[in-house]
Amino acid sequence: MQTIKHLIANQLTEGIVALGAPAAPTAAELVAMLEYPPDDTMGDLALPCFKLSRTLRRAPVQIAAALAESLAGLSCVERAEAVNGYLNIKISESYLVNTVLADILTAGERYGASDEGKGKTVVLDYSSPNVAKPFHIGHLGTTVIGHSLKMLHEFAGYKCVGINYLGDWGTQFGKLIVAYKKWGNREMIEQGGIDKLVELYVMINNAISGNEEKGIPADPALGDAARAEFHKLELGDEENLALWRWFIDISLAEYEKTYRQLGITFDSYKGESFYTDKMPAQVQKLRDMGLLKIDDGASIVDLEPYGMPPCLILKRDGSTLYPTRDIAAAVYRKNTYDFDKAIYVTSAGQSLHFAQWFKVVELMGYDWHDKLVHVPYGTVSINGAKLATRTGNVVLLKDLFRAAIEEVTQIMTEKNPNIENKEEIAEAVGVGAIVFYYLSGSRIKDINFIMEDALNFDGNTGPYAQYTYARTCAVLRRAEDVPSDAPMTLTAPDEAALLKMLAKFPEKVMAAIADYEPSVITRYILDVAAAFNRFYHNCQILNAEDPAVRATRVALTRAANVVLGNAFPLICLKKMEQI
Ligand code: ARG
Repeated sequence: MQTIKHLIANQLTEGIVALGAPAAPTAAELVAMLEYPPDDTMGDLALPCFKLSRTLRRAPVQIAAALAESLAGLSCVERAEAVNGYLNIKISESYLVNTVLADILTAGERYGASDEGKGKTVVLDYSSPNVAKPFHIGHLGTTVIGHSLKMLHEFAGYKCVGINYLGDWGTQFGKLIVAYKKWGNREMIEQGGIDKLVELYVMINNAISGNEEKGIPADPALGDAARAEFHKLELGDEENLALWRWFIDISLAEYEKTYRQLGITFDSYKGESFYTDKMPAQVQKLRDMGLLKIDDGASIVDLEPYGMPPCLILKRDGSTLYPTRDIAAAVYRKNTYDFDKAIYVTSAGQSLHFAQWFKVVELMGYDWHDKLVHVPYGTVSINGAKLATRTGNVVLLKDLFRAAIEEVTQIMTEKNPNIENKEEIAEAVGVGAIVFYYLSGSRIKDINFIMEDALNFDGNTGPYAQYTYARTCAVLRRAEDVPSDAPMTLTAPDEAALLKMLAKFPEKVMAAIADYEPSVITRYILDVAAAFNRFYHNCQILNAEDPAVRATRVALTRAANVVLGNAFPLICLKKMEQI
């Protein structure tokens, strides 16, 4: 299915060739140059011809005039006019209703999808919590941005592999084992689950480094004990290995609950521990290539020529580090999946880490180094309070979800007490509200979480979007006997406006992928919801007297339902027929 912009751009390339230009822009470049004017009295699309003036060696006004002529006869164009160096284009309403609307309804679940990524594989590394440390709202970003990017790429035809690179290895396990042996027992963990593990972890951290406020003196011997337990684990000590596996299982069971609420599944849970035996080969390669330098006993790759601090590969005691593991994991993934793109979603705090080891991979001569993409995001705070780490005081993701679900349950009890599946709906709306709010702004901006704003049913929120979708379903339930093969006609401006908005979906999907930016979809959903609600309030749908008008309006409602329904899963938002 060709978008309107593509149809126009293709035609424009012909007009440009006719101008006898030496270096004409391609259709793809023209697509990128076509703008939506802020005020649609000027037209639905505009091409500023100033930039073309150099390459085409003509005045913008002349170019605009020639191009306007070239569009005559194109069925999707009602009118094309040259105005002060702009080419203003009005889209034909009969094209909208006869072609765009029909295309949306025929494509259905596939509307907006493409085969752009056919034959290509994308590996996405996201969520990746550190086992036994709290899964807090700082992880919301990687989890939902990562999953959105996966859904977007799948929609565009890429084969996707979602990897949860669990932080399942490291000295924290030594600490946890000491804490468990000292203060814990099996029953306590079986009953308390991950919360108990985190509690033990916080206790041991406080005990090792001391906590003045709580009057706990520092006990460095516990730190030594933790290192010793981790070392035993590394050497394969049975008891410690069994504890380690158990801690992971307990944590995973808990994460799964959160993932289920979000509708997220992973294709691989290969965590950091999996790469233990894959690192030596890469370290050896670095050594053989003369890339390793010894610095105060540690092995590093000097990145000074690239304006970065050195990348740490081995500590003084020979143990490996976070970058070492990432390098080994990338090589393994390249060999296993032969990816065309490997995406890593983490907070912007890790940007340097990724820039460093991406550079090391390049220096190692891996020609796929340019297929590695880091997608960073900003920090999250709740009503202004930044999140503390290590010693507790963190807002857990599950608690945030629970609070939202409780509030929605209350709102629903007031608004719609007899609704079926109340619990399921409250969960989808509550969790959806948080995700939607989070994905509304560009990912790199820091956000402050305000629950009331996220849950406002009348604001630009998830509940409002879900409510609009449910509204389309309600109309369609009552429209079953309206024939769908009736002739169509547009009679009100809000109908055409809605259709023009729906026509933009495929390009929004592409834009979200190009910028790794799910918020493009979130904002688009709000635009569609606004356009639908305007249409809904201003136009009679089922009560329209003229059968063609009624059929058209039902078809428009169905098309809005298709677009919202296809867009929601792209941002981890669940759709419900009733709220
Ligand atoms: N486990 C890490 C953390 O919570 C994130 C891992 C990101 N992925 C990676 N390949 N480094 O900070």
